Amino acid sequence: MSVWVVLVAAGRGERLGEDKPKAFARLGELPMLAEPLRRLDESPWIDEIVVVAPPEWEEPAILLAEEIGASKVSACVTGGATRTESVRAGVAEVPEDAAVILVHDAARPLVTDEVIERVIGALGEGFDGAVPSLPVSDTVKRVRDGVVVETVPRDELVAVQTPQGFVAPVLRAALDGEGSDCASLVEAKGGRIKVVAGDERLLKVTTTADLERVAAWL
Ligand code: CTP
Ligand code: MG
Repeated sequence: MSVWVVLVAAGRGERLGEDKPKAFARLGELPMLAEPLRRLDESPWIDEIVVVAPPEWEEPAILLAEEIGASKVSACVTGGATRTESVRAGVAEVPEDAAVILVHDAARPLVTDEVIERVIGALGEGFDGAVPSLPVSDTVKRVRDGVVVETVPRDELVAVQTPQGFVAPVLRAALDGEGSDCASLVEAKGGRIKVVAGDERLLKVTTTADLERVAAWL
């Protein structure tokens, strides 16, 4: 059973606001991309990795993979205008015989073997997909035009992270849609997605404060 990762790193990082794409913002000694790439490369659960880079950053991505000795990188492709387009470009490089595809945000550098194991384990139980999640601690309200419409029962809510894992043909068949994450595309096709425990340290770097928090956890 082969497990492929599509590592999406093609976003512009507008909210981080650096003069380079977010995946190349410095985290510790190296560009951020190095951290999730090294962790995925070292994971015994992962067979091959496709890196999705911003336009004109394909070469730096390949050089970085070589620099850290990431031997599982089989392709580096150019991303698209949306995250879903970038996922599509990456999945197109995954061979037909792959069993499982994990999609991971390069902006969540601190991916662990434990979370990968939980995601892949859920696929082994027969689910179409699996997502790491955290409980929502704040009360959440649905609002329209600045007015509360409803208080959403918190025990039914989770915040989801990546890596999100899928049975490969199921993900491929769902990628004709658009959504904020891959699981929502699979859900829209009627797929069953298992929720597994995520990790606080899988925080997505969005702002400079996030980058500092993740740097402190290195
Ligand atoms: N991503 C991508 N291609 C896009 C947009 C996003 O590969 N067209 C990736 C990002 O590189 C990131 C992940 O999807 O790893 C989550 O996206 P986000 O945190 O929104 O990153 P950016 O889009 O880069 O940031 P911003 O929205 O602030 O510009
Ligand atoms: Mg974005």
